[in-house]
Amino acid sequence: MNYVAWDSSMSVGMDVLDSDHKQLIGMFNGLLQKGIADRDRDDLRALLDELTDYTAGHFAREEEAMERGGFPDLESHLAAHRYFTDEIAKLKESFNSSHTVMLRIDLVLLLKDWFIEHIQTVDAQYRPYVHAPTDDMPAGA
Ligand SMILES: [Fe+2]
Repeated sequence: MNYVAWDSSMSVGMDVLDSDHKQLIGMFNGLLQKGIADRDRDDLRALLDELTDYTAGHFAREEEAMERGGFPDLESHLAAHRYFTDEIAKLKESFNSSHTVMLRIDLVLLLKDWFIEHIQTVDAQYRPYVHAPTDDMPAGA
């Protein structure tokens, strides 16, 4: 599994959301950095807590920006966010009964295959609609 690097092709056109995404990619790279096999349960628990906080703040910012910009496919995007939030909650619920190896694998796959992919494909769709709150430009301009 390789590190992921944020580059401008991943930009969604709003600084605050781009920095959220960079933070998520940093969490993913941090998970790989130490060596996945060396991650212990305390590490994983801390990462799950961090991801829970992250999703609450980031998804709210992203959803507000999409709503304000009149993004037409908001409902399916909200469903994607709910899916990710539920998956994190499920991992947390099963934390005590899960093997550490399975937790590591589930976290890596969730972050890489689902969420980083989400930034690159699903989030890219709202780019023409969102602007920084100070912008006065009409949506889609
Ligand atoms: Fe999103």
